[in-house]
Amino acid sequence: MLAVSASSPPFRVLFSHVDILRRSHELVRDLQTCLSDEPPCLVQVIQGARPFARLIQIGLAGGLPVHEVRASSYEGTESTGAVKITMLDGLDAQMVNSREVVLLEDIVDTGRTIAALREHFLALGARRVRVVSLLSKPSRRVIEVEVEHIGFEIPDEFVIGFGMDLNGRYRELPDVVVYDAEVERTFESVNA
Ligand code: IMP
Repeated sequence: MLAVSASSPPFRVLFSHVDILRRSHELVRDLQTCLSDEPPCLVQVIQGARPFARLIQIGLAGGLPVHEVRASSYEGTESTGAVKITMLDGLDAQMVNSREVVLLEDIVDTGRTIAALREHFLALGARRVRVVSLLSKPSRRVIEVEVEHIGFEIPDEFVIGFGMDLNGRYRELPDVVVYDAEVERTFESVNA
């Protein structure tokens, strides 16, 4: 299936918006069975995880806030290796101390980001860290990292849409699609 929209190239759809809604609903159910009675500290990895984190937040109900952390390791379609972590909107060690942190991520690729975040929150005193990721590319791992809840496993393809971008573009696409430079070039030359 191709994503058909007048304003974006017809990239191949990997997961439609409906697929994502359905799977997120299942992930919420799984997560609920694993969480203790105490409300977890939800933390989304911005910006890519925002739409997915919103679905999980709504599904969990109870009005839990979602805190934000920035972890940068990517430039273009290549991982740069080092992970820089920035805590946002007042998230601090006190809020994390002795609590279960649920990290909401768009995609786990090499595993470096999630490994660094897990270590970071444990060092801040989190009782445990649980990872929920919409996507995972297991064939790309360079670090063995536990991802407790995975929406979909995908092959080694660069995906965009539903929050995920390529240099700031395509986040707003409703589906998860496979980026293809040739498709993009053809689209842009036809629409120039
Ligand atoms: P990791 O540290 O290599 O696991 O990379 C995780 C981060 O890389 C994700 O949070 C994304 O921001 C980015 N990333 C990895 N693969 C893709 C992709 O296929 N599309 C968009 N972003 C990606």
